[in-house]
Amino acid sequence: MTKNPFKILTIEHYPILQVASALAAMKTTHEIDPETLKEAINFIRNFADRYHHEKEEKVVFERTKKKKVDYSPIEAMEKEHEMTRGVVKQAAKALEEGKIEDAIVNLRNWANFIPNHIERENFVLFPGLDNIFNEEEKEEILREFERVDEELGSFKEMENLANKLFLEIVSKSGNAIVEARAIPKESRDDFILKLAHALPKNATLTVLYDEKSEELEKRLDSLEIEEIKKKGVYAFKIKRGEDKN
Ligand SMILES: [Fe+2]
Ligand SMILES: [Fe+2]
Repeated sequence: MTKNPFKILTIEHYPILQVASALAAMKTTHEIDPETLKEAINFIRNFADRYHHEKEEKVVFERTKKKKVDYSPIEAMEKEHEMTRGVVKQAAKALEEGKIEDAIVNLRNWANFIPNHIERENFVLFPGLDNIFNEEEKEEILREFERVDEELGSFKEMENLANKLFLEIVSKSGNAIVEARAIPKESRDDFILKLAHALPKNATLTVLYDEKSEELEKRLDSLEIEEIKKKGVYAFKIKRGEDKN
């Protein structure tokens, strides 16, 4: 099976979006354990930043800069990485000082921003980069990705921690909100289903979607769905009540 490095980067966005969907619905009135917030910060630092960004910045972006192409979109992404690091640093500082509410606000800011960054990478940047690297170069990129996997962690670890955090946070807040439009169409419904079934009992998942989909509704059959009014987007709530079956 030939792998594509941009597909790998796209898939690494899913656990990041899963954690973001839990963090985005946090309110300062929710009693989220400081340990959980710390774990969320560690997830962002170790996996979104060190692990995933190592692949983006040190491998893909560096190689792109050596080519005779306009790399201003890459510089824009790097600036956003830098900005998000700043927000997470603020969250960590607030947490250290015992300012739980400030930590929640900063983590929520990160969570509200990151889907848009991911969306542009998935839909604009990566397809563009996929065209400028030839197969041999993509093989080299994949080998460097393997090095990152050996040194900095694994996707499995990233996924497990994302699942754990999602459950812990949503158990306390009762809500999650997912910007599903950041996920490529072919994987979007599977991702929503995964989050819906990961919901603790009586929790709600708000889904920002592109248009009404009977197919998705059919697949969510065992869950309660309610359409909600949101400006400029098709949105609905999934509620995990007591299981029907
Ligand atoms: Fe990025
Ligand atoms: Fe990314």
